Amino acid sequence: MAFVKAASLAKLTPGALLEFRNGEQQFALCNVAGEIHVLENHCPHRGGPLAMGALHGNMVVCPWHAWEFDCTTGACDFNPEIVVRRYPVKVEGDDVLIDVDTTL
Ligand code: FES
Repeated sequence: MAFVKAASLAKLTPGALLEFRNGEQQFALCNVAGEIHVLENHCPHRGGPLAMGALHGNMVVCPWHAWEFDCTTGACDFNPEIVVRRYPVKVEGDDVLIDVDTTL
């Protein structure tokens, strides 16, 4: 388990969607009404960068072809068998920390 600081809570405000890179790993951080969720930043369709898309409620919309993923489950809206990996996250003070070695 390796928690890494990924963002400051002051920047990841409710409704925000941010990208974080840790070496070659890329993550999409979402704040849904104060709850932080983390997805891999790689759309399973053609590899679009999810963090460059939009957050509508709890749905992350891929910027390339608008597939949508529930950031609380990772599931695609039209086919729940297509799932984006999720990662554990915790908040300590203003630090948003991701466990980059563990998927949920
Ligand atoms: S690459 Fe994400 S919808 Fe096509």
